[in-house]
Order: sequence, then C-alpha cells, then structure tokens
Amino acid sequence: MSESKIASVLKKPMTEVFTEADNFKYKLFYPVCGFLLEIALKPIVNTEFGTMVWNAGLGLCQYFEEQKMDFSHKKVIELGAGTGILSILTVLLGGDVTITDNPQLLQQIELNVSANIPSSMKSRVQIRALSWGLDQSQFPSDYDYILGGDIVYNRSSLPLILKTLQHLCNESTVIYFASTMSISRELITSSYRTLFQYFDSDLVCRYENVDVNLYRMTKKKSQTQG
Ligand SMILES: C[S@@+](CC[C@H](N)C(=O)[O-])C[C@H]1O[C@@H](n2cnc3c(N)ncnc32)[C@H](O)[C@@H]1O
Repeated sequence: MSESKIASVLKKPMTEVFTEADNFKYKLFYPVCGFLLEIALKPIVNTEFGTMVWNAGLGLCQYFEEQKMDFSHKKVIELGAGTGILSILTVLLGGDVTITDNPQLLQQIELNVSANIPSSMKSRVQIRALSWGLDQSQFPSDYDYILGGDIVYNRSSLPLILKTLQHLCNESTVIYFASTMSISRELITSSYRTLFQYFDSDLVCRYENVDVNLYRMTKKKSQTQG
C-alpha cells in the first residue's frame, strides 16, 4: 500500500457562471499536468450524478500527474465518465480513449471534449453510450486501461459493473478505479471486496484529505484461463 497524500487538484477550482441556450450553467477550470482543463456542467435531473466533477475522477487526474503517466499508443476506456475530465486528460497524455456513460451524459462530454482536445487529437477520442451490464458486448476486449472514478457506490450497479469489466478486460488490462469512501464507506468497502475476488488489486494511493482511495486491478489468472 502506498503512503497517504494530499490531493491538490481537488482545491476549489476557478468557476465561471454562464447561461447559454443549451443550458450549460457552470464552467470549472482545473490545472493538471500543465493543462488548464475547462469543464462545463449541465444541470439536468436523473443522470445518476454525472453533472458534477467528483473527487475520485480528480484524484485519478492527480495520480496520473504524479506518476507522469504516458498513454501514448495505449487503448483506454472510461466507464461512467460524467463530465469526461479524466478521459480528456488521458487523451492529452497520448491515449486512444473511448469515453462512455449513459446516453443523457454524452452531450456534456462532447462539449467538454470540444473545449479541451485540439482537432489534431480528435481521431484518438470516441464518445459512446455504455450502460453497464447492457452494452458492453458492443465494445472490444483489448483495452490496455479501464478507468472509473466514483462509479462504485450503488449495490445494484455492482453486478453490472462486474459483468462489464469481465467483458472488457483481458489478462493484461489494467483497471484504475478510485472511490470517495465517505460516500458510503461500508457499501464501497464491501463492493471492492467483491471485485477483489475476481481481480488482483493494490491500493496504489490514498488522498487522505478527501477520503479518496485509488485501486489498481488486473484480472486474476484463474479468471483468464479456460
Ligand atoms: C458519481 S458520478 C462520477 C462521474 C465521473 N466519473 C467523475 O469522477 O466525476 C457516476 C457516473 O456513473 C454514471 N452511471 C451511473 N450508472 C450507470 C450505468 N448503469 N451505466 C453507465 N453509467 C452509469 C453516471 O451517469 C455518472 O456519470
């Protein structure tokens, strides 16, 4: 287990309030990896919390900065991307990234991708609907990385996430999931305990000030044979 750290990316971002015809109301600016990421939020209902930037997604952004991650030539998919901030950073760090969420969130992700990803990099981005447990078979199983920030928080979603991971993962896929434990400590802890039955895991980082744990997981060998 790694040492506990303070998450500085999670400092209150600079906020700009605006209103446009399409109802995007807020823009937040996050400095990370030498980029100033501009994230617009669309307050809409029934989106399972995708219209704010969650600390776990930001924790993963900070971890990628600290680890000087280079995603060049790596194929990445993010589940439950929300605003898309983590995927956007991963594209800027060289990755070939598929950004996914429920269909209602895709317009918000498209707007944020347009604002942050230069046209020369757009060929490395796909934005697609992936509802856990339902759509995964439309995606390949050859990803180098699977990312998820604050998506493990709901008892009924866990089997759907597990089913999705089991389809998307191969024996060399690395999963980075982060969770704000205080959302529901017992539930999240027991959900990870279930995931760890299927995936070898390390707690690679913990941001104490925001109670965010970062896990690195790979498919257990017994899951990949036969
Ligand atoms: C708590 S938010 C986290 C958003 C983002 N990862 C972040 O760190 O800011 C959870 C995300 O999971 C998505 N989500 C919830 N249930 C889902 C499902 N069944 N299939 C796909 N995405 C789902 C939500 O739309 C939302 O964007």
